[in-house]
Amino acid sequence: TTVEKQGFRHFMLKEIYEQPNVIRTCLDAYLNPHWHPQDNSEVSPINLGLSEAMLGNVENVQILACGTSWHSSLLGKYLIEQLAGIPTMVQYASEFRYAPSPITPNTLSIGVTQSGETADTLAALETEKQRRIALDSKYRPRILGVTNRPESTLAHMVDEIINTQAGIEIGVAATKSFTAQVMGFYLLALELAYRRQSLSLEQIETIINGLRHLPRQMELVLEKQEPIIEELAHEFNDTQDFIFLGRGVNFPIALEGALKLKEISYIHAEGYPAGEMKHGPIALLDAKVPVVAIAMPGIVYDKVISNAQEAKARDARLIGVTVIDDLDASHTFNDILTVPRVDEILSPMLAVIPLQLLAYHIAARRGLDVDQPRNLAKSVTVE
Ligand code: G6P
Repeated sequence: TTVEKQGFRHFMLKEIYEQPNVIRTCLDAYLNPHWHPQDNSEVSPINLGLSEAMLGNVENVQILACGTSWHSSLLGKYLIEQLAGIPTMVQYASEFRYAPSPITPNTLSIGVTQSGETADTLAALETEKQRRIALDSKYRPRILGVTNRPESTLAHMVDEIINTQAGIEIGVAATKSFTAQVMGFYLLALELAYRRQSLSLEQIETIINGLRHLPRQMELVLEKQEPIIEELAHEFNDTQDFIFLGRGVNFPIALEGALKLKEISYIHAEGYPAGEMKHGPIALLDAKVPVVAIAMPGIVYDKVISNAQEAKARDARLIGVTVIDDLDASHTFNDILTVPRVDEILSPMLAVIPLQLLAYHIAARRGLDVDQPRNLAKSVTVE
């Protein structure tokens, strides 16, 4: 099937705009439509179709991935640990291949790859499978794939998959495949939380209601923010370095914002946990280095604002990604990119969109080949 740009200048922009519908498709596919906490406590609200052998009695989770999929995996760790209370490790597949962590019992191993073809990820999963295969039952391999290519090599080598429903992605810089993977992790974390009763049914219902609002909220971000971001992109014609700060659930979004920008605009960008800025990146700051801080209301909000103020004291131009009605933020930041107010745990799904658009418009304005950036490939099938 030929995939067309449908009036968008680049596939990347089209795929950014596809995100609300991809999330709708995931919710339709995987939420149990009749579930209600009062009358359905025996039935899971989530319907990923995964077996008891995969999800029963999980004591540890280990996630292997590369690139943007590694960032969605970091969010997966946050969600599985904070919602389901299961210790979770995330490793670069290329590192794990040659230095696998010691084997732990009752471990769910998850390979995350949008293409399902990344050589390092496949090899890391094969290493994991082989070293467990001969061991007794509590060490048996349980390998789950998270991908939007159900026909891929990954899908054939693992026991079960979560199909993230993102469909084919053409732009080399991953966008819709990222948000779809993150959605897969919300659903998996909720399923595990339900099984382990680490959240009450009412808490689960609250998060699910929040998830159901996301597609419309993502549309609002696209509609309201794109013109503002296109305009803002003009300000960075000579910029050579960017710093992205985030904390907690939005730390992986800072990494992803930086990766998007460097992949397609060739501007050096670093994502950092905001609290670590004082241990290094602060030395880089001056009026020439813009700082993008993700400041979503929640447990780390005040901390991020005070980290941002430290950057401002070094003359950095401060761009805040925050919520619409936030007055504190409007005093702190030189520019603000806003998203609707949501529960902190859901905020990464909205915060990432202005960062995708910022990277896109800075690169498009420089006249660069956004969909096919130099030296990068959509999927890396060699080591
Ligand atoms: C390449 C792509 C990235 C992608 C990474 C992992 O480097 O350019 O956009 O995140 O591979 O790809 P995967 O298909 O495994 O998610």
